[in-house]
Amino acid sequence: MKTIAILNLKGGTAKTVTAATMARCLSAEYSESVVLIDADQQGNLSQYFGVTDTSQCGNTWTILTDGGGYWPDFVTPISPTLDLIPSGMELARADLPNSGARVTQIEELRTVLAEDGVRYLIIDLPPSLGFVVQASLLAADEVIIPIRLDTFSTAGMAELARQVDDMRSINPRLRVAGILGTQFQRTAYEREVHRLLALESDLPVFQTLIRMSPPVPRSFDAHESILTFSPRCGASIDYRAFVREYLEVHHG
Ligand SMILES: Nc1ncnc2c1ncn2[C@@H]1O[C@H](COP(=O)(O)OP(=O)(O)OP(=O)(O)O)[C@@H](O)[C@H]1O
Ligand SMILES: [Mg+2]
Repeated sequence: MKTIAILNLKGGTAKTVTAATMARCLSAEYSESVVLIDADQQGNLSQYFGVTDTSQCGNTWTILTDGGGYWPDFVTPISPTLDLIPSGMELARADLPNSGARVTQIEELRTVLAEDGVRYLIIDLPPSLGFVVQASLLAADEVIIPIRLDTFSTAGMAELARQVDDMRSINPRLRVAGILGTQFQRTAYEREVHRLLALESDLPVFQTLIRMSPPVPRSFDAHESILTFSPRCGASIDYRAFVREYLEVHHG
């Protein structure tokens, strides 16, 4: 079982689209059993799957505070091999003092899911370093870092690498699977940023770049995975290639 945290402290780098699409690809096209956690109080991942009211179902806040109840009652089924633990604004409470949230809860959830045969736990993180991110990195095996290919984004990489390194003192399993260039507009400048990143960064960089494709935001509004909403658009083709690269290069 692999627990993958999708992390970048910068906003709008396609963390949520990457988490949703990777999960959908692994479950629908590789028949893997996948659980997705929406760890962002913005709830974008949940909205992508059409879940807007989290008050009546198991959600990331209930997992952090009471474990969410009995597996699999606390997940929202999306398809036979894909389940979601959604989030909403209640998750903002996690950063308050004495919130009652326990930092080891996602780690404990991971153990339960692994025993039940879940192959991938994918966590969509917010662009911050609060309690939920700490709890997620404590449980994670790997971090995938989606970035936009500009110098502002790449400048933040060294700091992010340092923070993942720091977490390793309490979670020695944790490693960066790779940096993933997203929202690629096929400019020479972006290609150069990608080339330099691969050359100079201490972190692995995925070869695959995810093209900017107009159907992506529309698939969000339609609550449908880009892989089925527009199967042949650049982003769908690239996300499939990225998952192939992730499985082949990083997991032999
Ligand atoms: N390949 C793509 N082509 C076109 N639009 C994209 C692509 N990837 C992401 N987007 C759009 O960019 C915006 C940001 O994407 P997303 O919400 O996944 O980023 P995020 O990193 O999760 O943001 P936040 O930091 O707010 O959580 C969304 O409107 C999304 O539809
Ligand atoms: Mg997001």
